[in-house]
Amino acid sequence: MILIFAVDKNWNIGYGGKMLADIPSDLKRFRQLTEGHIVIMGRKTLEAIPGQGPLPNRINIVFTRDKNFNREGFYILNNMDELFPLLERINPKGEKEVFVTGGGTIVRQLLPHCNRAYITKILKSFDRADTSIPNLDLDESWKIVKESEIQRENGLEYKYVDYIRK
Ligand SMILES: NC(=O)c1ccc[n+]([C@@H]2O[C@H](COP(=O)([O-])OP(=O)(O)OC[C@H]3O[C@@H](n4cnc5c(N)ncnc54)[C@H](OP(=O)(O)O)[C@@H]3O)[C@@H](O)[C@H]2O)c1
Repeated sequence: MILIFAVDKNWNIGYGGKMLADIPSDLKRFRQLTEGHIVIMGRKTLEAIPGQGPLPNRINIVFTRDKNFNREGFYILNNMDELFPLLERINPKGEKEVFVTGGGTIVRQLLPHCNRAYITKILKSFDRADTSIPNLDLDESWKIVKESEIQRENGLEYKYVDYIRK
């Protein structure tokens, strides 16, 4: 599995249900990397998607403990144990990549299964943030394999940093 996230300097990812920053080029890159593949998210991340619909051209999986939750276009799972049988069924040859797209609670549960990460590092600390993911720079089992030049958009500086599990 692959993590794909935009983080600030403190590895914060969201505030009040929203992402910390709006970076159109990053969203475009997210779409290009994930299209044709499988995306996994928590119910709160789904609710942060404009329109709250499935991401087009991707297989969308959402986690919720609400057994009555119903949303067109999503595989809805009520616990982690259901994930691997589902992936086995819908992606038996492993031809599609499986992206963990958020939020913090889902990452914490699936990080042990991830071996790659596409992190957009926003070079700023946001004052207001309530959701984070683990800092891979502090985790000795991860290493950086690629780092872009600094990008600039919407008054923000950021770079794309790719990690793999050692
Ligand atoms: N910067 C980025 O790249 C990025 C990416 C994605 C999200 N975000 C931000 O992250 C924030 C949301 O993250 P979050 O950590 O608060 O929420 P989340 O992980 O998106 O969703 C949490 C919900 O997922 C469900 N869930 C979690 N574990 C489960 C399990 N084992 N079995 C069944 N259901 C489970 C529960 O839904 P129920 O409550 O319905 O039971 C839980 O409340 C938002 O601010 C969002 O904008 C940022």
